[in-house]
Amino acid sequence: MTPVGSSTETSALSFGTERAAVQQALDAFCARWLGDVAPLTAEAIRYSLLGEGKRLRAILLIEAYRACGGTGDASDLAASVEVVHAYSLVHDDLPCMDDDVRRGRPTVHRVYGVPVATAAGLAMVPMAARSAWHAAKAMGLADSIAGDIVRDLMDSSGAGGMIGGQLLDLEAEGVHLTLEALERVHRLKTGALIMASVTLGARAALAPASRRLALAQYGAAIGLAFQIADDVLDITATTDQLGKTAGRDIALHKSTYPALLGVDGAIERAVALVEEGCRALADEGLLTPTLDQLARYIVERRS
Ligand code: IPE
Ligand code: IPE
Ligand code: MG
Ligand code: MG
Ligand code: MG
Repeated sequence: MTPVGSSTETSALSFGTERAAVQQALDAFCARWLGDVAPLTAEAIRYSLLGEGKRLRAILLIEAYRACGGTGDASDLAASVEVVHAYSLVHDDLPCMDDDVRRGRPTVHRVYGVPVATAAGLAMVPMAARSAWHAAKAMGLADSIAGDIVRDLMDSSGAGGMIGGQLLDLEAEGVHLTLEALERVHRLKTGALIMASVTLGARAALAPASRRLALAQYGAAIGLAFQIADDVLDITATTDQLGKTAGRDIALHKSTYPALLGVDGAIERAVALVEEGCRALADEGLLTPTLDQLARYIVERRS
């Protein structure tokens, strides 16, 4: 494995077919759910969704669904997770949060203004819930399963998940956190939605609880590894590679893994987490080549 931080590694996420399906599902999302939204807000939401994202969470959902024996089309459900993720980026980039650029182009608030960007982000959450329900029903799932899916998606992004972690992240600026406290921030702000991506795939495939649990362990481990790698890339990659400002964490006095463990120590921890996540799946006979590849990509990526 050539871990994150290597200067020669240019690993990119392939999964061209899945990415195209997710892109199409995001187009369909816009066509279906933006009709009643005020034009400028709708434009801002479309802008935030249709930029060049890796679509990692959506691809994880699709691959977890397949690993659990799902044979339908999970791309609309996967797009719902990307909507929550895109909203988190719109708000993360606001001047009151990280005040940054994104995906190599001006951030939503720099194009549409802070009030529209704030409203757009907020509007995306209930839309994601509705679209997840709609997608689950279109996959033929019972109301109880569709309800579990919507609940898990909202829980993972709520005060006990992503947004709770975002608040802790802001409170930790300029503060020295212990490793334990930083791990909690990262598990919430980034790990929770990545974990939900794979467990939603398991739910949609009607996987038994033992498989869902293994996927939850995998998702939690690679989700934490993803944010550690993001912290490392902030130091080791360029603004051009990242599409966001390199060195932003240092400028904002963020609490990060490299600040506590050094770049090499942070990479070691991320690699160990990837191994841990893959082992949890292997123990359950669920480690498909694609889930293995996705986990490794998280620490090999350069963007
Ligand atoms: C960025 O996520 C935000 C973090 C949780 C670190 P990604 O790196 O997945 O962003 P996109 O979707 O590819 O732009
Ligand atoms: C963001 O973490 C986590 C989110 C929930 C959006 P960062 O603030 O490190 O993400 P980037 O580096 O701006 O993508
Ligand atoms: Mg942030
Ligand atoms: Mg940020
Ligand atoms: Mg970051």
